[in-house]
Amino acid sequence: MFGKILNYEVSENKVLVNYEKIQSTITLINESVVNFFVPFHREERNSKAVENVLNSEVKFEVKFDSKVLNIKTNVLSINIYDDFKVDIYNSKGEILCRDYRGERDPFRRLGANSTLAAEEGHKLEGHEEYKIYVSKVMENDMYFYGLGERTGSLNKKGYHYRNWNTDDPTPHGETYAQLYKSIPFLITLKDEEACGIFFDNHFESHFDMGKENSNYYYFGAVDGNLDYYFMYGPTIKEVVNEYTNLTGKTPLPQLWTLGYQQCRWSYAPQERTMEIAKAFREKDIPCDTIYLDIDYMDGFRVFTWDNKKFGNPKEFLEQLKEMGFKVVTIIDPGVKVDKGYKIYDEGLKEGHFATDKDGIVYKNWVWPGDSVFPDFMNSKTREWWAGNQKIMMDLGVSGIWNDMNEPASFNGPLPDDVVFNNDGTLVTHKEIHNVYGHMMDKATYEGIKRATNKRPFIVTRACYAGTQKYATVWTGDNQSTWEHLRMSLPMLMNLGLSGMAFCGTDVGGFGHDCTPELLSRWVQVGAFTPLFRNHSTIGSREQEPWAFDKTTEDINRKYIKLRYKLIPYLYDMMYKCEETGEPIIRPLLFNYQNDKKTYEINDEFNFGDNILVSPVVEQGARHKLVYLPEGDNWIDYWTGEEYKGGQYIIKEAPLDICPIFIKSLSIIPVGKEQNYVGENNDDILTLNIYLGKENGESTYTHILDDGESFDYKNGKLNKYIINCKLKEELRIELKENIGYSKNYNKIKIILNNLEHTKKVFFNNKEIEVKENQFIVEL
Ligand code: GLC
Repeated sequence: MFGKILNYEVSENKVLVNYEKIQSTITLINESVVNFFVPFHREERNSKAVENVLNSEVKFEVKFDSKVLNIKTNVLSINIYDDFKVDIYNSKGEILCRDYRGERDPFRRLGANSTLAAEEGHKLEGHEEYKIYVSKVMENDMYFYGLGERTGSLNKKGYHYRNWNTDDPTPHGETYAQLYKSIPFLITLKDEEACGIFFDNHFESHFDMGKENSNYYYFGAVDGNLDYYFMYGPTIKEVVNEYTNLTGKTPLPQLWTLGYQQCRWSYAPQERTMEIAKAFREKDIPCDTIYLDIDYMDGFRVFTWDNKKFGNPKEFLEQLKEMGFKVVTIIDPGVKVDKGYKIYDEGLKEGHFATDKDGIVYKNWVWPGDSVFPDFMNSKTREWWAGNQKIMMDLGVSGIWNDMNEPASFNGPLPDDVVFNNDGTLVTHKEIHNVYGHMMDKATYEGIKRATNKRPFIVTRACYAGTQKYATVWTGDNQSTWEHLRMSLPMLMNLGLSGMAFCGTDVGGFGHDCTPELLSRWVQVGAFTPLFRNHSTIGSREQEPWAFDKTTEDINRKYIKLRYKLIPYLYDMMYKCEETGEPIIRPLLFNYQNDKKTYEINDEFNFGDNILVSPVVEQGARHKLVYLPEGDNWIDYWTGEEYKGGQYIIKEAPLDICPIFIKSLSIIPVGKEQNYVGENNDDILTLNIYLGKENGESTYTHILDDGESFDYKNGKLNKYIINCKLKEELRIELKENIGYSKNYNKIKIILNNLEHTKKVFFNNKEIEVKENQFIVEL
């Protein structure tokens, strides 16, 4: 494919390597991130994920001795050989990533048959042929993470995944090769050193982590360019930061989006929606958001309302607003073929729909029957779609739920040769399928931003790398089964490691019937997932927090209220995420990479830096085996007992208890008890400090702003930097950096596990502590 290296040229941050058959370009993005590019398909890169590559000046040296071309930065040493074989070392000369030199050699699969192959979603007999293919040496002690939304275990070793956004309504099994999202980003971890590979190719692509043969792992695509980034940590934190520097960070959302959300297919007509809204308030269960699924529309025509079911939507939405509810409406990409329907007529006239190869508008079926598909590759179409968001926003809708945007179609898949117009270049469905939803989200984001000047809230089902800039994700149509509750944890953790920090699952499960016990356990997980939405399918047993018995309702109330207490902490994390890309719900190895025992824990997670959650995900279980990572001490949230890290403990977990641990010395802001975000204005900042037995120090930054606009980016933001030092005495210091017009009047500090003998100082003044708390005027 490449042949021998003939010579090379250096141009700015690039090294162009001329092979006998083709030229490759190696770009140093920075000292630890490198891009490898070979134009097999197009000369120019046409990335939908990477918008701005920060090409700072990078110091590097290049040497060539006819066999090997070496590129060296302060951090990496990259050897490039004939046939574009690449080996990458760290500065100590240790190998980080070595290209595999052998031929593909799939394990023998005697008796493999097509039934099994169909179940696994990819061919088992024989093996896939790729136009683009890179394989790397796999070592026994390697661990794999990332790749977005995937069923199966946290560690992806031994799995094979296909990137082809797919709406598969059958219950997703552990070995499913493909789901709704394609995020071709893999993290490897070996000897405590983490590296990332981002294969920016949106044709159908595959990642195989030793399923084909455990001597190698590979990525490959059916077409497109070879275009991949290698990034060196050595921490996973740094890898995720570099990956999100390329593809974008999850931005700070509006505050209300962190509240509890209720959905069902469908809350219609409006009387039913109102019944749900009232029940939340009557039953004292906080809730911020109600969703309207497809039945609010007139015959599933997007951007319309069924006026029989929702007489005057504007008035109705206003009524809900007065009760403190935001409404999010579903929008699917499929536009009903229907002369006289404004969106269809306009789109047709202005050429906004994808066509077949002969230029005739392409049709398939979705909910409205015969439908056409907006060409989101075309900036004019995106502009038009963005403009349509105003229709919804002007009525008082607060967010948009982009569904079916793989795109899903009921009359067979869209053929490969359906044509889209990528601003002048005609491209086929085969090339752009995996970015279709991504581009729809981009258009939606622009439209909502323009119409409201607030941070857009979009929930999307289909994604490509980088969609986190525009939208929140949920994991599609899961089932009300224990298996799906269990699998949701590694799925969300890997989504988080893949840049999608704002993520969640349908709490209680979408398909099948939920049970009181399952909902009780699911809401305990949901309280800690950034997107906290209960959703269920049409025809299934009702699943609202009160739908079962008093015990289940009480448990729902307890955890939803706990969530509202955690909202300021979650918001602070989201703010930090916009700077660092750090996920919210994260595997323990993210914070404890030096503790190998954390590498394959599927059923526990850290909620940011300070909280560890070990939910019960087994039917009937009333105990939980918890691993507490080494290096910190952990305080049981419910009992105050303190444990040393680096040990397994068994915790009692009756149905209303989810084992939760707080890292000792943590500072955690506490949200007000309220029915919805903003009901009670925060004039007092409450902080919980968990002290523990050992001395030490910690710092926490809390933010306050208007919670909805982009003003925080221009300094309209308060930062409260709290430092806590525990020695013979406890010293708490607060530094304020005030940029926002509103401020707290007081600060209340609750000292958990404080020894009575200790003196307490706040900003160097001794404080009298009563019942472990004190209040200071600000
Ligand atoms: C899809 C969505 C689901 C929604 C349904 C009806 O199955 O994944 O969440 O309720 O369509 O719109």
